[in-house]
Amino acid sequence: MLKMIVPLCLYQLWTIALVLTLQMFMHNARFLCLSVRGSWQQLNSEPVIHGEVHFPQYPGPYLPNQKKEWDLWVPEGYQIQLSLTHLDIKASSGCSQDSLTVLHDQEVLGSFCGQNNSTDHPDKESILSPGNRLTLIFQTSDSTPELQQHTGFSATYKAIDIDECSKPDPGDGSYPLCSQICINTPGSYTCTCHSGYKLHLDQHTCLFSCGDCIFDKHEGHLSSPWYPGPSPPILSCKYIISVEPKFTVTLNFSENFHIESVDTQQGPRCLHHWLQVTTPGREPIKLCGGKSPGVLATNSSTVRLDYHTDNEGLSHGWSLDYSTYSEEVKCPFPGNVAKGRVTPTLTEYFYRDYIHVTCKRGYRLIMDGQKIRWFSAMCQSDGQWQLPLPECQLIDCEEPKPLLNGGLTFLSGVKNQYGSVVQYHCNEPFYFFPGGGNVSFTCKADGKWRSNHNDATLTCIPVCGKPRKLIPTYQRTVGGSEGPDNTIPWHVLLYINGQIGGGMVIADRWILTAAHILTHDGNLVSKDDVQISMGLIDVHTLLGSHAYAASIHIHPEYNNPNGLDYNNDIALIKLQDAITFNSSIMPICLPAEGATYVTDMIGLVSGFTIRDTDNYRILTDNIKYVHLLVVEQETCSTSVNELRKTKDLPSLTNNMFCAGVPDGGKDSCHGDRGSPLSVRDGGRFWAAGIVSWGVDCRHRGTYGIYTRVANYLDWINKTMQEK
Ligand SMILES: *[C@@H]1O[C@H](CO)[C@@H](O)[C@H](O)[C@H]1NC(C)=O
Ligand SMILES: *[C@@H]1O[C@H](CO)[C@@H](O)[C@H](O)[C@H]1NC(C)=O
Ligand SMILES: *[C@@H]1O[C@H](CO)[C@@H](O)[C@H](O)[C@H]1NC(C)=O
Ligand SMILES: *[C@@H]1O[C@H](CO)[C@@H](O)[C@H](O)[C@H]1NC(C)=O
Ligand SMILES: *[C@@H]1O[C@H](CO)[C@@H](O)[C@H](O)[C@H]1NC(C)=O
Ligand SMILES: *[C@@H]1O[C@H](CO)[C@@H](O)[C@H](O)[C@H]1NC(C)=O
Ligand SMILES: *[C@@H]1O[C@H](CO)[C@@H](O)[C@H](O)[C@H]1NC(C)=O
Repeated sequence: MLKMIVPLCLYQLWTIALVLTLQMFMHNARFLCLSVRGSWQQLNSEPVIHGEVHFPQYPGPYLPNQKKEWDLWVPEGYQIQLSLTHLDIKASSGCSQDSLTVLHDQEVLGSFCGQNNSTDHPDKESILSPGNRLTLIFQTSDSTPELQQHTGFSATYKAIDIDECSKPDPGDGSYPLCSQICINTPGSYTCTCHSGYKLHLDQHTCLFSCGDCIFDKHEGHLSSPWYPGPSPPILSCKYIISVEPKFTVTLNFSENFHIESVDTQQGPRCLHHWLQVTTPGREPIKLCGGKSPGVLATNSSTVRLDYHTDNEGLSHGWSLDYSTYSEEVKCPFPGNVAKGRVTPTLTEYFYRDYIHVTCKRGYRLIMDGQKIRWFSAMCQSDGQWQLPLPECQLIDCEEPKPLLNGGLTFLSGVKNQYGSVVQYHCNEPFYFFPGGGNVSFTCKADGKWRSNHNDATLTCIPVCGKPRKLIPTYQRTVGGSEGPDNTIPWHVLLYINGQIGGGMVIADRWILTAAHILTHDGNLVSKDDVQISMGLIDVHTLLGSHAYAASIHIHPEYNNPNGLDYNNDIALIKLQDAITFNSSIMPICLPAEGATYVTDMIGLVSGFTIRDTDNYRILTDNIKYVHLLVVEQETCSTSVNELRKTKDLPSLTNNMFCAGVPDGGKDSCHGDRGSPLSVRDGGRFWAAGIVSWGVDCRHRGTYGIYTRVANYLDWINKTMQEK
């Protein structure tokens, strides 16, 4: 009987490039040629193992009454693929006489007889063994005549790598081949792990890698893997805290502590999960359970912690801060700070002692030229203070902020130093503080100026309606008089597309005037066409100096397309730059809430034009004014209605009032359109009217018509706040 085995030890030789051919001579002088060639052609490529099997007499005819057996082996992790390249065996029913039988572990994979030429398609007739072995049995019966011409068979085989990784999950609850990553290799496979894990000795399980750290700082923090999440299974983590021998380590476990314990008759035990604390020369302590061990003074400079979990159970983990102490490490006496105090005062300062520095009142902490809020320093493990001592420096405040339209004076103290007092004032008599008086600020211990008034928003408010000079006598209206300097400082001369108009200053950026002078053919004029002059009474100088309009706002309900509707004849001009008030430019006050227009109340109307005898406007050299009386509304209404019988005239509304003199006169309707009608009351002038329209007021019983400003306080206020 022939039995051929491809020796397994050859496998070990694959790693060195090898070409091997075996030829074995058989005892019956006929020989079986079995060649096995193996080569490891390239790293990571499949080894090629193949061979050929055929009957000894092949290609001559075979003999009767023979039985030959071939055992084919390839290395573990491979399968055998057998291809019959030639078959010529006497055919019999069920191959019961002569046959070639292929087996794997007693299992018949195929039994062959008859004739076939499959040399052209060797793979077509191939047989794949389930494992790494295959047995071939060639048997001939004695009924085979001696001189038959059948030639037997010839076959080739080769080793085929098994891809273990792609094998389906056994589905029987057993572990997969690799717990994380499976890599197929020729003849085998290997398992690898994701980063942060390492392969267990079983070569199949991936374990969390704890990092096995050594802590040599004097304080630090440790926690279980994935803390505060549950700990991974099969942990074996080691942590070593090791500092110089003169220090001792204290562990401070946080409240959140849980390591699985097992209840036994002797009480809870750390059987499967535990954290073991080991210090040299002492019994290790095993920790588990749900209660934090709290503070654990180890009295040792080296502590080893071993955290263990197995593949069952659940531990929520632990975390701890450790610190170190030493009775041997001392820091030098910290010294003194001029104008300050170092606390606490001790006879000796040990490692981890803290000192604090505070300054006397009026001084503050300075370190490296920077202000600091507080100072503390620890005595370090090297016997040195963590930080050098700071200085205490006299507190000073920043330069006090300047005040627009005001100023400040130092009442006491060295400039800006702690305790200094500054007093702010507004530039009187043109500006004042809302609360009146002056406001003082003191440089306080926090380095900030603090006021004695809580609500001291430092703003200077302009004084309105109080000219520095008054028109000497009340003139009952004679021809329009020239106004002396600074007596009507709110009057504004407007020059719009060649037309003269008037207005009045009511705030540092706002001019009040009539709407009709700012419209032309029903359209708003451009703000660039509005020239604004003020502060002077000489018209030639005035026209050479301008302020500029930033925006124009006519009353939204003013609508006068045909010159027959002067209702709501009021407008505001916003200036590009704020005015600084002085004796020649001052605002007029707005009417008080609910101001009344009493009949015969005296109004001052100012302007730069007068009407000549033919009712033409003539530009005068100097500002002119006239005193007029407020006319009863009914009287005026009667007068207007009388005139409307013969002329197309606008109607009188409650947003208008009339002023004039009962006898009439050439200047009684004096004043540029848009100019103010000012009323003096309680020592102040307020803006009662705006020159709007009029009919031939030289005659008795006709009057000038003025916009009633008191009706527009809300609109003025709203416009000034929003625009
Ligand atoms: C021989 O070849 C025929 C056709 O090619 C095929 O059907 C038959 O299975 C083959 N027999 C063997 C023993 O290979
Ligand atoms: C089989 O192949 C041999 C040689 O390759 C040839 O002589 C013979 O005729 C073939 N037989 C058949 C049945 O094809
Ligand atoms: C331990 O840690 C807790 C919380 O972090 C802390 O309040 C406590 O002061 C620490 N104890 C010691 C002795 O350091
Ligand atoms: C450390 O020393 C203190 C006092 O000497 C002792 O009470 C404590 O039990 C010791 N701790 C350990 C873990 O040995
Ligand atoms: C406010 O201060 C100014 C300038 O220092 C001073 O002239 C004026 O009298 C002070 N007014 C009051 C009310 O204290
Ligand atoms: C008032 O201010 C205006 C504009 O700043 C200036 O031209 C004028 O000379 C000042 N008048 C006085 C009296 O200071
Ligand atoms: C303007 O409105 C504000 C707030 O609405 C108010 O405090 C102020 O007194 C008003 N001024 C006038 C002049 O109406």
